[in-house]
Amino acid sequence: MARPLALSKRIGIVGVGMQVPSKVLTNQELERTVETSDEWIRTRTGIRERRIVEPGMATSDLAVPAARQAVKSAGLHGKDLDLIIVATTSPDMMFPSTACLVQRELGAKSAVCFDLSAACSGSVFAIITAWHYLLGGQYKRALVIGAEVLSNYIDWTDRSTCVLFGDGAGACVMTPVARGGILATDMGSDGTAADLLYMPGGGSKYPPSHASVDQRLHFLRMNGGEIFRLAVRGMADSVQAVLKAAHRKPEQLECCIPHQANIRIIEAVAKRTGLPMERMFVNVDRYGNTSAASNLIALYEAAQEGRIQHGDLVVLVAFGAGLTWGSVLLEW
Ligand code: ACO
Repeated sequence: MARPLALSKRIGIVGVGMQVPSKVLTNQELERTVETSDEWIRTRTGIRERRIVEPGMATSDLAVPAARQAVKSAGLHGKDLDLIIVATTSPDMMFPSTACLVQRELGAKSAVCFDLSAACSGSVFAIITAWHYLLGGQYKRALVIGAEVLSNYIDWTDRSTCVLFGDGAGACVMTPVARGGILATDMGSDGTAADLLYMPGGGSKYPPSHASVDQRLHFLRMNGGEIFRLAVRGMADSVQAVLKAAHRKPEQLECCIPHQANIRIIEAVAKRTGLPMERMFVNVDRYGNTSAASNLIALYEAAQEGRIQHGDLVVLVAFGAGLTWGSVLLEW
């Protein structure tokens, strides 16, 4: 459902950060391990390479440096934060939350911390969640992180999924602002399609056991074609919903920062919303699909590259497992 701005208060993004592992995994390297080709991966997905953690690295190892950078660029310190939300489908552990682990590293003693599970829509869901907390007035400085080490949940012998994903983290700091900020948001979910993309093992239904490992239940499973179709429609509808809620037109959008899953999904969303590809931010070629980290990594790079300037109308839009989808329309 699309929600326009509560006019009394403006909440903006005042700092951004990102962190990806240094190790690059190219399509050519994947050619040596599964029956695929650089040409197939590039033409079907737009992905050339992705980043993968070294063994032993966890999601918080990427989340913490991304968070430090976002907090610093907002001119704040860990102790200034009163809310930390980590969007992830690959937390360090079942519990405690990865957000509490980040809190410990940042010395953010005053922050309330929790994780949010919305798969690839995680960053957008977490930004909207923080927005509501800040609009409520009890919280003033929120740190939102999207972070994933999905490489640990990929079946590296399954060519239909292993070429798609990568590891990384993006972060932003949100506070009340005098001008601009978030103008409208939209989010939705559809649990009837839960089995289009899921990982069965490791939770209470199929706890880890020798049998669950033998049955390969701890790897991601996906119906790629169906997800593709629904993602295009879901993201395009969501962008249109926030524009309508804020009484703006597609031509007023300076930059659309979509979830980076597949260049063909991004192109189809552009076509459906009437946006030229020059307005779509794309970095899926270098990172693949980093799930909950994707929109925030893209936001960081869009800001760094000067693709979004002060006062620009920008939309973040995502779609993922659940199903989940959402958009944030903001004046940068
Ligand atoms: N290399 C070579 N061939 C492959 C590979 C590969 N890595 N993977 C699959 N194929 C084969 C298939 O086996 C199939 O062969 P067949 O026709 O003999 O059965 C053929 O390629 C075509 O497969 P399709 O599934 O029809 O290919 P499609 O064009 O739909 O692309 C893809 C597949 C890339 C997975 C696409 O459907 C997609 O991107 N879907 C979205 C999935 C996604 O992004 N999920 C992430 C989470 S949700 C989200 O982020 C939005």
